[in-house]
Amino acid sequence: MKQTNFIAPSILAADFAKLGEEVDNVIKDGADIVHFDVMDNHYVPNLTIGPLVCEALRNHGVSAPIDVHLMVKPVDRIIPDFIKAGASYITFHPEASEHINRTLSMVQEGGCKAGLVFNPATPLHVLENVMDRLDIILLMSVNPGFGGQSFIPHTLEKCRNVRKLIDASGRDIRLEVDGGVTIDNIREVAEAGADTFVAGSAIFSTNDYKTAIDAMRVELAKD
Ligand code: DX5
Ligand code: ZN
Repeated sequence: MKQTNFIAPSILAADFAKLGEEVDNVIKDGADIVHFDVMDNHYVPNLTIGPLVCEALRNHGVSAPIDVHLMVKPVDRIIPDFIKAGASYITFHPEASEHINRTLSMVQEGGCKAGLVFNPATPLHVLENVMDRLDIILLMSVNPGFGGQSFIPHTLEKCRNVRKLIDASGRDIRLEVDGGVTIDNIREVAEAGADTFVAGSAIFSTNDYKTAIDAMRVELAKD
């Protein structure tokens, strides 16, 4: 079941000194959801933003869904804070949780959509046991930790495989791809079965977000 395409700008590439305004602008310019990258200088070698910033965006008036991508280990301690802070989606890496079912339950019982994230080198076998519980699957097309890296082409094959699993499940599960997505490759990513496209530098490094997002939509609309 292929869903409506979502464009999800990663605010990692936004200007943090004026984050509220950046998010307002990118939503006004046509983005569907806000991708919020949380890094802990432990699971990944970088440190970014946490629940206080998510809450600040909600208090600022951001009403679009916030897609919290947790690159933290351990993961359970911080999840209730993101639920309270107004997250809409919470995804985590299976290797960052000792008990994947418990972590998924914590997210879903808090009223958020839950998902697993797979690094380029992480196999997909965990999916076999949790397909009936997931709301979203996120495939990393770069190694997590930094924006502005190049798309790893092997992700396309993985994406096709996950699309088959989702279709076979008959469930309403979003398929998101994150890392190095640009106007030039978004169509190929969509053809591989993705419906949710994270783009950081391809949007925020331009000075006209609307033109970048519109160009992505034109690519997605091509047959
Ligand atoms: C990487 C992050 C990505 C990243 C995407 O660890 O999860 O969301 O910010 O940025 P670009 O689109 O610049 O690769
Ligand atoms: Zn991300």
